[in-house]
Amino acid sequence: MAEQFQTEITGVIEVAPGFFEIILAPHKALRNCVPGQFINVAVNSPQSFDPLLRRPFSLYRDFPGGVSFLFHIQGRGTRILAEKTAGEQLDIVAPLGQGFTLFPEMNKPLLIGGGVGCPPLYFLASKLLRGKFDIKACLGFANKDSVICREEFLTLGIDTDTVTDDGSFGKKALVTQRAEEIIKSGEVDAIYACGPKPMLKAVQALAGKYKLPCQLALEEMMACGVGVCLSCVVTTENGIYKRVCQEGPVFMAEEVLFT
Ligand SMILES: Cc1cc2nc3c(=O)[nH]c(=O)nc-3n(C[C@H](O)[C@H](O)[C@H](O)COP(=O)(O)OP(=O)(O)OC[C@H]3O[C@@H](n4cnc5c(N)ncnc54)[C@H](O)[C@@H]3O)c2cc1C
Ligand code: FES
Repeated sequence: MAEQFQTEITGVIEVAPGFFEIILAPHKALRNCVPGQFINVAVNSPQSFDPLLRRPFSLYRDFPGGVSFLFHIQGRGTRILAEKTAGEQLDIVAPLGQGFTLFPEMNKPLLIGGGVGCPPLYFLASKLLRGKFDIKACLGFANKDSVICREEFLTLGIDTDTVTDDGSFGKKALVTQRAEEIIKSGEVDAIYACGPKPMLKAVQALAGKYKLPCQLALEEMMACGVGVCLSCVVTTENGIYKRVCQEGPVFMAEEVLFT
């Protein structure tokens, strides 16, 4: 059950230019978050309603002393968040949405992440998969300055491949091109992915081509985050609309009809 609460920021780290990790003090609602679920963060100050809408983020890491989320500056809300400092309070609604569920009989998962889609996959790897499965990760970024989470995946002992669009770090390739090479090696029996829509559409095609069970975490624009406004709907099989904030953000790949 989601709840609204205030919690203290205990750290703000710029992990790469324009990418910030905010560490939050422990709270029971955050402890109960399943990987793939999200938190909705008020970015305004307590004295103001501007900006009015909360901004959704996936959880990234949990520590004995709290949890974190990692974001890239996109616009006004994330710019305000990047200026927060340790000791300030954040107003949060969590946990929200449906997270990843494990494919029980699949023990060689491939995690495919694009940009800020990598943090929830790291959370999935560290919370649910680690130690039980032979995990591979394939991470894609625009360039070397936007590489995030890679060291953390490696620290978990995960076989991690990193590619960039311009070849400034790792191989020059789309993450889905590299993922296909890995799948062809035959060492993969399931896929979990998060990233921009074109990437997820290509992952869906890969899953279909190689007949692999696959879950996709979608990042749609959201207004309310709690199922009321219908701003986040996606079309699913048989033309049924589903709300990314309620029925998602994680969907079975074959369910989603990308436009
Ligand atoms: C379930 C979920 C989990 C998310 N997790 C993360 C995360 O872990 N890290 C992270 O960096 N971002 C994440 N996002 C995206 C993040 O919510 C947006 O980047 C943020 O709300 C932008 O706010 P803003 O005020 O800075 O930008 P705005 O001024 O609102 O918009 C600036 C630009 O960002 C684009 N944008 C805004 N909202 C979204 C969105 N929801 N998805 C994609 N593009 C958007 C707009 O089209 C516009 O081009 C997530 C989104 C969802 C729905
Ligand atoms: S964001 Fe309002 S219904 Fe999903």
